Amino acid sequence: MFKFTKLKYLNNLNKSLGSNNEVLKNISRSLKTTSTKHFTNDEIKTSKYTTFEEMTAIRRIEAQKSLLVQVNSENSHKELCSYCSQFGKLKSSFYYNLSEELNFILLEFDEISGCNEALRSSSFNEDNPAIPVISPFLWFKARDTNKPKSVNQNKEMPHLIHQTIKCLDENKLYDILSSAESIDDQILILHRLTQLNDLGLRIRYLAGHQLEMALNGMFPNIQACLFGSSVNGFGKLGCDLDLILRLNDNYKTISGSRLIYHTKMSRLNGRSQTQRQMEVIGDLMHIFLPAINNVRKILNARVPIIKYNHECLDLDIDFSMSNMTGFYMSELLYLYGEIDERVRPLVFCLRKWASLVGLTNSSTPGRWITNFSLTVMVLFFLQNIKKPILPSMSVLIKSATPNDIRVTEDNINCTFLRDLNKLSFKTENVESLHHLLLQFFEFYSTFNFQQNGISLIEGRPITKPDHSAIWITNPLEPLLNVSKNVSYEELEKLKMETRNAAWILESTIEKNKDPSSWGLMSLFQSKKRIVKPEMFFKSRLVDVTDLFKDDSIKDYDKISYKNTAIKSTVKQIQKTTQREISKFMKNI
Ligand code: GTP
Ligand code: MG
Repeated sequence: MFKFTKLKYLNNLNKSLGSNNEVLKNISRSLKTTSTKHFTNDEIKTSKYTTFEEMTAIRRIEAQKSLLVQVNSENSHKELCSYCSQFGKLKSSFYYNLSEELNFILLEFDEISGCNEALRSSSFNEDNPAIPVISPFLWFKARDTNKPKSVNQNKEMPHLIHQTIKCLDENKLYDILSSAESIDDQILILHRLTQLNDLGLRIRYLAGHQLEMALNGMFPNIQACLFGSSVNGFGKLGCDLDLILRLNDNYKTISGSRLIYHTKMSRLNGRSQTQRQMEVIGDLMHIFLPAINNVRKILNARVPIIKYNHECLDLDIDFSMSNMTGFYMSELLYLYGEIDERVRPLVFCLRKWASLVGLTNSSTPGRWITNFSLTVMVLFFLQNIKKPILPSMSVLIKSATPNDIRVTEDNINCTFLRDLNKLSFKTENVESLHHLLLQFFEFYSTFNFQQNGISLIEGRPITKPDHSAIWITNPLEPLLNVSKNVSYEELEKLKMETRNAAWILESTIEKNKDPSSWGLMSLFQSKKRIVKPEMFFKSRLVDVTDLFKDDSIKDYDKISYKNTAIKSTVKQIQKTTQREISKFMKNI
């Protein structure tokens, strides 16, 4: 069974990072105190698995018990706890800052009632003529020095946990990665240092709770359902938040009730109605809700969305009001991430690589592959290796129980097994992350994208149903291709970069020869790339033969390959490059 090893780096991070670096100290502290739940297959058999729905329910309740309080500095912690403990017992407290002036403490009460009591006792700013709106975002006013100190001074208070909500500075990350002992450790460290932490999840659920609180009077069944990388286990610190606002979830008719609410019928059809509702809610958020800024309505998109920024949480948020498949898709990805502890570190590493070599660009949609499609590609690869690490989705569908039946309002069947304790699949694969990474690059550098498509349902290549550059079956709507946006140029780039990466990883420099540029560092540093995709995207005026004058291409011969698959790939590339370039040049 594969086990994480040599995590001593994580324990020694404080020492190596220097004592005055608060951000890194916090990260290293959080590495020790928080851990995402991971199971080996043996453990799955014996331990109670937390399903996505259970995780969601726990986090939602946590948000209902929490307040975010802006404070002068972290030194206000004691006084804040002492003041708030009059409303109920406190459970936990987290500190983060966005700048020297913007300091926040996230305070969790033991019970929802404590939090509600604190909200009921909170006041509005007399000097500020703004419309009074209740939200979980407050600030802690300085104590009136004429009044006696709070009586709860000696009450037990939660330890203040420091966690960052921002991404780690790239240079610091590289410093840490270069001091690791093996590529396996680098992959693990990258995952641990960049994954969304406990505080990151808490503030995201609090953002959802703010919308629920604001609209609850009119819509008592409202639910903000979080989805996407924030909750599917593949999110990194600072990732955007995707949420679906459901106005009538859990709506039940009470049998026997003779008092029936008057309601209003809409004369608009489903989509126009959603657009209209979103427009109104978008305005409401823009005009009334504190800390919500820069509200942008994109209502003509296939799935109408509203984008906004949350000032206190330093978050970019997208919300929609339809399309629950996104939520179930996140549940599926969460499940795959939980099946084997290598899945998430590998996905993190590949997302990072893809972003650094310019294959993905999560800030702008375009003709390139998305993080979501890339994640599906990694899962598919793990279904297709010699000893599969992940089961096909058809296994999850066949193992589903009546409790797993989910059908969206658009009749999309999202039924698959939710409880991993009931999964009979067991992997015999014990390969290291390093080897899996290399195999990923080999797999896709030789994948027949022209004839084959990728499908998690079958768990093996399928005949490509159309002429898209890349076909990746949407696992919940199999007639759709999630990578329909990808152009042929981007596919070429993908093939090229996977080949480059395989070569680089295969010929990676020993750590002791170049400590700043070994292992993942050589993959991530673009100047080390052997074949630059730009070579294939120059104007037609470029003389194709010039491309073969590049010294780096001649250098291929000098590399000794441990792996025969790489060797044959290199040969194949050398033979086909000329043909590919000519063909490509004709098409641009
Ligand atoms: P990052 O935001 O880049 O960290 O990743 P993400 O997984 O959150 O991606 P994104 O915000 O683009 O999309 C949010 C979620 O929507 C994904 O996790 C999927 O569940 C779903 N999704 C994204 N793209 C598609 C698509 O092409 N088809 C379908 N059906 N769902 C998608
Ligand atoms: Mg997202």
